[in-house]
Amino acid sequence: MLYIIGNIKMNLSLKDYKPYLKGVNKVAKASPNYVGLALPYPYLYCAQKSLKNVHYGAQNVYVKDKGAYTGEVSAKMLTDFGCDLCLVGHSERRAYFNESGEDINSKIVKLLENNITPVLCFGETKEQRDNGKTKYVIKEQLKKALDGINNINKIIFAYEPVWAIGTGVTPTTMQIAQISTYIKDLLEKMGAKREGLKLLYGGSVNENNASDIFKVADIDGGLIGGACLDVTKFEKIINCTK
Ligand code: PGA
Repeated sequence: MLYIIGNIKMNLSLKDYKPYLKGVNKVAKASPNYVGLALPYPYLYCAQKSLKNVHYGAQNVYVKDKGAYTGEVSAKMLTDFGCDLCLVGHSERRAYFNESGEDINSKIVKLLENNITPVLCFGETKEQRDNGKTKYVIKEQLKKALDGINNINKIIFAYEPVWAIGTGVTPTTMQIAQISTYIKDLLEKMGAKREGLKLLYGGSVNENNASDIFKVADIDGGLIGGACLDVTKFEKIINCTK
């Protein structure tokens, strides 16, 4: 079984959601894979109404349970809308909203407390890769994110090289193979059980390259941005097999 999660980001509008969610739900029903969607907060209500065969949730969460935190949304609120997953540490949040390793760690703790699966995103920038720092950056990001967490297997990991996101450029399958094995070895050293670890690749996955990427031994699926917005393209990705 593959894990295919769409990251809608800040896209689509109210009139688009009804047909879109209906389409994804239908495709997911016919697929043996785990299908997930990360939506903007206002549309979680629509997701709760229409998604019966799709895991869904938000793209961010706040670390407090309630109180005077204007503009924020708690994990408990996400559970009110049936969310069972939530993205954490996406590179766009790290870059535009200064999310730190500590923030990400606290969000993971809070999601696990509320039985929501954190989908932890991490990966190096082009500059870091060019300077030979890829493995170092990944290790640091994972160390900070997982500090003090002992149920690592409850997390879905998404390796997303920043330079591949939205660019149409992907690493070669050989490069993905090398880094994915490195990541799983690392997670095992950090206390995870290798069997059952879920590691997705994200960054310019589309209907043409998904199948080859998902065949990489240590890759268990994908986090899909742009290509998840079109149900026909997303369907081709959802129907990939290992
Ligand atoms: P992309 O985005 O598929 O559009 O590159 C992936 C992501 O940011 O999760």
